[in-house]
Amino acid sequence: MNVHVTALANTPLLDDSNAAFAEDVASGLSQHPKQLPPKYFYDEAGSKLFEQITLLPEYYPTRTELRILRDRGADIAAAIPEGAALVEFGAGATTKVRLMLHQCSFDAYVPVDISGDFLNAQAEGLRNDFPDLAVYPVIADFTKPFALPPEVKDMPKVGFFPGSTIGNFDPHEACAFLKSARDILGNGATMIIGVDLEKDERVLHDAYNDAAGVTAQFNSNVLVRINRDLGGNFDLPNFVHRAIYNRERHRIEMHLIAKKAQTVRVLGNSYAFRAGESIHTESSYKYSLDRLAALARGAGWKRQSSWTDPDRMFSVHALVVGA
Ligand code: AVJ
Repeated sequence: MNVHVTALANTPLLDDSNAAFAEDVASGLSQHPKQLPPKYFYDEAGSKLFEQITLLPEYYPTRTELRILRDRGADIAAAIPEGAALVEFGAGATTKVRLMLHQCSFDAYVPVDISGDFLNAQAEGLRNDFPDLAVYPVIADFTKPFALPPEVKDMPKVGFFPGSTIGNFDPHEACAFLKSARDILGNGATMIIGVDLEKDERVLHDAYNDAAGVTAQFNSNVLVRINRDLGGNFDLPNFVHRAIYNRERHRIEMHLIAKKAQTVRVLGNSYAFRAGESIHTESSYKYSLDRLAALARGAGWKRQSSWTDPDRMFSVHALVVGA
C-alpha cells in the first residue's frame, strides 16, 4: 500500500463545511509560522469550553461587559432610536441581547449567524419570551455582505457586536468588517460594540492562562477537531498551550507549541514540526478608547459615546454613521 492509499483509508468523508475546514487547515499548517483560524474552536465541545471560560475568575471580559450593559442600560437606551431593528452580528449566548431587549424598545431582532440550526433554536426562545418582538434570523457569514430582511427596511437600524469579537480580527480585517456593517445597516444607523481594553499585562496573561487549564483545553480543541473531522493524527500531549501578550501589536496571542520534533499527518499531507515550533491559533486585540475611535473613523463611523466599568477593563461604544 502506498502512502496515499494509507492516508485515504483513514480519511472520513468530507461534507461542505469540512471541506472549508480542510482547506484552511492545509493552508494554515503550510505557512511559516504555522497558524489556524480561531473560528474552528467553536464546535459543540469548543462552545461549551468557551462558556466555561466566561465563568473563570481570571476571565473578566464577559462579566464586565454584562455589568456595563446593565449599569449603563439607560444611557445605552438613550443613544438608540425607538422602534428600531437590532441586528446582531454573530449569535452566541442570548444573555446580552436579552439585556438589550429588556432595556431598550426594539421592534425587531435580526440575529445573523452561519449556523442555521443554532440560530433557529435561539430565535424560538426569544419569540417565546418577547411576544411583541419580530424575530427575523438571517443565515449568513456576517463578515461578508448580506441582505437585511425586507420587513425591517423602514425601521431604524442598530447593529450589535458584543463580546470583543472584533478583537479576533487583525486591524485591516476589523476596518473591513466595520465598513461592511455600515453598508449593510445603511445611513442613519447606530452600532453598539463591546471592545476589550488594554491593561496591565499580568491581568491579560492570567485571563488567557487560567489556573484550571480550561483555556488550554479550549485551544487544543482545534487539534481534537482536526483529528476527528479530518482524520489527523495530532498527539495531544505533544503540544502545549501558551498565551503571550504582544505589546507592539496590542494583542494576546494563543499558540500551541510542539514539545518535540515530530511529523503530523492530515488528509494525506505531512507537516513537520521542530521542537518548540508554534501554531498561532488566535489573536485577541486590545484597544485604547482612542485607538478604537480611530479604527471606527477609518471605517466611516463616528464614536458617539463610550461606557466602561469603573476599573476600565472593558468598553461598550455607540457608533453612528458619518464623519
Ligand atoms: C470570544 C474572541 C472574545 O478573545 O477573549 C477566550 C476568545 N480565547 N479565551 C477572547 C477567547 C481565549 C475570546 N473572544
